[in-house]
Amino acid sequence: MVLVTGGAGYIGSHTCISLHEAGFDFVVFDNLCNSSQESLARVEKIIGKKIPFYQGDIRNKQDLQSVFDTYKIDSVIHFAGLKAVGESVTIPLHYYDNNISGTLVLCQVMQENNCKKIVFSSSATVYGDPHTTPIKEDFPLSATNPYGRTKLFIEEILRDLYVSDNEYKIILLRYFNPVGAHKSGLIGEDPNGIPNNLMPFISQTAVQKREFLSVFGDDYDTHDGTGVRDYIHVVDLALGHVKALQNMDNVQNVLTVNLGTGKGYSVLDMVKAFEKASGKKVPYKIAPRRAGDVAKCFADPSYAFEVLGWRAQKGVEEMCEDSWRWQSQNPDGYDSKI
Ligand code: NAD
Ligand code: WQD
Repeated sequence: MVLVTGGAGYIGSHTCISLHEAGFDFVVFDNLCNSSQESLARVEKIIGKKIPFYQGDIRNKQDLQSVFDTYKIDSVIHFAGLKAVGESVTIPLHYYDNNISGTLVLCQVMQENNCKKIVFSSSATVYGDPHTTPIKEDFPLSATNPYGRTKLFIEEILRDLYVSDNEYKIILLRYFNPVGAHKSGLIGEDPNGIPNNLMPFISQTAVQKREFLSVFGDDYDTHDGTGVRDYIHVVDLALGHVKALQNMDNVQNVLTVNLGTGKGYSVLDMVKAFEKASGKKVPYKIAPRRAGDVAKCFADPSYAFEVLGWRAQKGVEEMCEDSWRWQSQNPDGYDSKI
């Protein structure tokens, strides 16, 4: 049985489907602080099966222990965490507590129950401002905000855990920019309030929930001056977790892997691709650079193929089409009636 912390969230809910399709049994644990149980209800609709769900906080030992008491948990996919960069600057202690203390409690409970396999959601943010692109796993690490530092610290904590006991099987997956949604249009990204990330902002602008997109800077050293990122379809990302679990037993040392496509697209490339996929206009205005943004960030994904046999399959057209299907069918996210 796989324990999926944060399984009601954006990436977690998509991963539940991929786990089911690959034949894994799993239980979801989430405090719903940034998600709703409706996402799991919709996953159940897609897979035609009930999902065992525990509402609880990873910082609470008893909450977690009750899952381990009920199921024989062999491995954990650990998505649970707060992820808004700007918010992490405003309330750093909350981020350190939720993400780092939460992971410590999870690891303690795992240890007490002799569960030694974990896949952790890390992020390309740990590369800070990369000296060059594409980014390889052995590039220098740094963080420019508390959110990024939680990912860096947790990576180190998990490496220490392995040093203390080589029976641990630990995979750190560094995601680039997840976008898109499941083909059904039933599940997708549902940010609270005004989206911080580009794709949900574009799709909300296309359904006229937002008047225009602010493009943060057009004077970067990129092909059109706007920031370049490695957007990766969330279903490809979900499959990366299945591959991680399937390869877990062969892992030596802590395995650290980039999950990206290896292709970089600018903000304006994404606006154009989205307009094409949706047939809608996405009005935009050039705005000042956003503090902390880098010009270019995209992966060298070759190691993921080498060690996990995984590579992204879906291109930017499909990412935009699928984001659009989700957004247009659910203009109010999970509050939308279907
Ligand atoms: P999300 O917010 O949709 O999902 C995270 C889930 O964790 C939510 O359902 C939330 O309710 C839950 N959660 C948070 N704190 C918890 C706690 N203390 N106890 C129990 N549950 C808790 O985010 P996501 O986009 O699905 O991201 C999943 C993971 O991937 C996060 O760790 C995030 O930092 C990481 N990540 C995300 C991105 C991205 O751009 N989406 C990129 C790189 C890494
Ligand atoms: C993408 C590009 C913006 C919004 C963040 C986190 C990172 C990871 C993924 C969790 C940039 C531009 C954006 C807007 C814009 N998350 N933009 N107008 O910053 O690459 O990465 O999410 O780990 O840690 O930092 O993603 O989607 O915010 O921005 O012009 O309204 O779009 O400047 O060039 P980012 P993003």
